[in-house]
Amino acid sequence: MSIQTLTILDNHYQESNDDVIQGLTQTPKSLPPKYFYDDRGSQLFEEICDLPEYYPTRTEAWILSQYADEIAQITGSCELVELGSGSSTKTRILLDAYQKMADDCRYLPIDISGGILKTSVVELQQKYPDFSIQGLLGTYEQALTHLKSSSSQSRMIFFLGSSMGNFTRQESDRFLSQVAHASKPGDYFLLGIDLQKPQEILEAAYNDSQGITAAFNLNMLSHLNWRFQGNFNLDFFTHQAIYDQVDHQIEMYLHCQENHSVSLDILNLKTSFQAGESILTEISRKFDLAIIQKQLEVQKLQTLKIWTDPQNWFGLILCQAQ
Ligand code: AVI
Repeated sequence: MSIQTLTILDNHYQESNDDVIQGLTQTPKSLPPKYFYDDRGSQLFEEICDLPEYYPTRTEAWILSQYADEIAQITGSCELVELGSGSSTKTRILLDAYQKMADDCRYLPIDISGGILKTSVVELQQKYPDFSIQGLLGTYEQALTHLKSSSSQSRMIFFLGSSMGNFTRQESDRFLSQVAHASKPGDYFLLGIDLQKPQEILEAAYNDSQGITAAFNLNMLSHLNWRFQGNFNLDFFTHQAIYDQVDHQIEMYLHCQENHSVSLDILNLKTSFQAGESILTEISRKFDLAIIQKQLEVQKLQTLKIWTDPQNWFGLILCQAQ
């Protein structure tokens, strides 16, 4: 039997308006990275994943292609829940492995971008007609709260692409605690993380030569203009990503080159930029495997196995809830 649905988990932007107001009225200014992902932003991110300089996606895909069968054998047949599924491209490697074990798998992709989620649910339903696939449209937080109450079946939540790198350490502690609360003892959690490596490789990955990452970064302002009736002038802003070697994180900025007054009418917000002022739009943390394992252990998520690529650029950690 196949079911194809999309469930909307509440108005997922309601809670975040305060983040925008706070981010744009503080010094230095910042914005939450979730505003990258309107439909155009999600499309640009897909293009980033194929860039020659952006190694994380293909490195993680390589690890999955080598070890997906082993992962499926360890967990056995279970409900698969993907946080931040996007186009679910890499996920197909995992779904293929689970399909070999059981025809009637249940897969729940979760994303905040409705367009890409809808398209991928339809495509996956055609590719895996015996799977039950239900897309959930909302934030990770809403999804994890929604999941808490459901399912007696064993489950694997997975969070790929090093998206946890876009959280501060404090946010990632909170996120992992929510994952642990949405899991029963014995459930699995599969986490993909980008590992520390030389600065020049990292900065090239986030300042690509075709300017796709720059377009992705600037698109956040178009998204805010559309969503909150704003008047950011995109011509005034330039993109830059730098690696902070102390905090082990890429920091992505939009630098404002002119004095600029901005209003976001729906938020009743007026703010101004001095020429040279910047907005921090994203951090992308690069991890150390030993440290992350300890962080997982605190949440009673015990590491069962870690896989990496030959260069040790990316890690895939399979944990089990205790
Ligand atoms: C989604 N996230 C893991 C990406 C990253 O690498 O931090 C977002 C991204 N930003 C610029 N390029 C890619």
